[in-house]
Amino acid sequence: MSPAIMVGSNEKGESDAPGSQYQKGVKQLVENGLHTIPKKYILPLSDRPVANPEDSNVAKENLQLPIIDFSELLGPRRPQVLQSMANACERYGFFQVVNHGISDDVISSMRDLSGRFFDLPFEERAKYMTTDMRAPVRYGTSFSQTKDSVFCWRDFLKLLCYPLPDFLPHWPASPLDFRKVVATYTEETKNLFLMLMEAIQESLGIIIEEEESEGKDNILKELEDGSQMMVFNFYPPCPEPELTLGMPPHSDYGFLTLLLQDHVEGLQIQFQGQWFTVQPINNAFVVNVGDHLEIYSNGKYKSVLHRVVVNAMKKRTSVASLHSLPFNCTIRPSPKLIDEANPKRYADTNFDTFLTYVSTREPKRKEFLDSRKLTSTLLQEAH
Ligand code: OGA
Ligand code: NI
Repeated sequence: MSPAIMVGSNEKGESDAPGSQYQKGVKQLVENGLHTIPKKYILPLSDRPVANPEDSNVAKENLQLPIIDFSELLGPRRPQVLQSMANACERYGFFQVVNHGISDDVISSMRDLSGRFFDLPFEERAKYMTTDMRAPVRYGTSFSQTKDSVFCWRDFLKLLCYPLPDFLPHWPASPLDFRKVVATYTEETKNLFLMLMEAIQESLGIIIEEEESEGKDNILKELEDGSQMMVFNFYPPCPEPELTLGMPPHSDYGFLTLLLQDHVEGLQIQFQGQWFTVQPINNAFVVNVGDHLEIYSNGKYKSVLHRVVVNAMKKRTSVASLHSLPFNCTIRPSPKLIDEANPKRYADTNFDTFLTYVSTREPKRKEFLDSRKLTSTLLQEAH
């Protein structure tokens, strides 16, 4: 047993020891049949999706996120599209992308595969359970199953993806087409990510001179060899969805996340103190600014809190592709966005700092990003 796992039981005598029903995940739990949720999943009142129906922090209407027509980025309307992207990243930290050029075929194969993976017998999925945050493949449940005091209603599979030849041999070989389907999807989302980043850099007004284009000031060059992580999320139907969450409020660590959600609503983003549901659009990507892009943009673009609510009727699946620089690179505000009027607002950081941070704390809310913000004392230290 890993010493990192805390063994305990709550006052109902429900054990959360490794191997207990909770460590096996929510899919397993639901398959055993239940009409109420175990105490392990019940959030304190203030953290529930609808804290108080009278005075709700959940918006009544859905938020119409900006929709970026990717095909227009390549045509005469590019300047207007860049402007919409800039507005979206500043205001919501989120937008949806349609006409992105990734075929319906590639997308439906990936959805279908994700469904078939979670349909595998538990023993098959459990082969990839590990508490090692650096493992190339990690199957698990909740958000951080070794640290969450209350568990989330979610099972997941995480894969490291880049460089593909290093990681692909570690990926599940079952279902039989797993590696082939995910490899194609990985390459296509990586390309889309790079094209989106090129547009985002342009929208930030960062111009790369020709002599810099091969150098280390060119973030696009570095991102080509950047890290990529694929997260398959599975949220089974939940008998008491108002008491728990599929994912707690969090921000994503990388530059951009490209999320493929299915037709079942569940993703909510925080905007002006309220939670808004992101309307599913068939085969579109929900794209959001991660902590690293907030840092790179020196705070201009926002890494926004989001969470997942579950529902009693339908299971929900999603696939998130998270992209950043190579794990050993330093992430810092772009020197081109810093001058006397705009001082550097974030400390330099890297993936190791992040992993150390999340392994010592509950990776909740925006604590990590907050820890990178330069207060006046830190600003002095940084000089
Ligand atoms: C994530 C995430 C949202 C969803 O994987 O980081 O926020 O809808 N997923 O599953
Ligand atoms: Ni997220």
